[in-house]
Amino acid sequence: MKAVVDQQTCIGCTLCTQSCADVFEMKGDKAIVRIDRIPQDDYDCARQAAEACPVQAITLSA
Ligand code: F3S
Repeated sequence: MKAVVDQQTCIGCTLCTQSCADVFEMKGDKAIVRIDRIPQDDYDCARQAAEACPVQAITLSA
């Protein structure tokens, strides 16, 4: 699974980095994806982060 954070859309709320720090980190006032392929162990937290993002900036794909 891969994740993308739309830099135009992210408002820097930091929820994703708090709930799934293995995958997301803050760079300046935006979140970025820190790994190319999300390990299976982190699927759940990545999904939760995507759902929790208030502006739907996170897209997950297979
Ligand atoms: Fe940005 Fe959404 Fe994360 S606003 S900081 S991508 S939860």
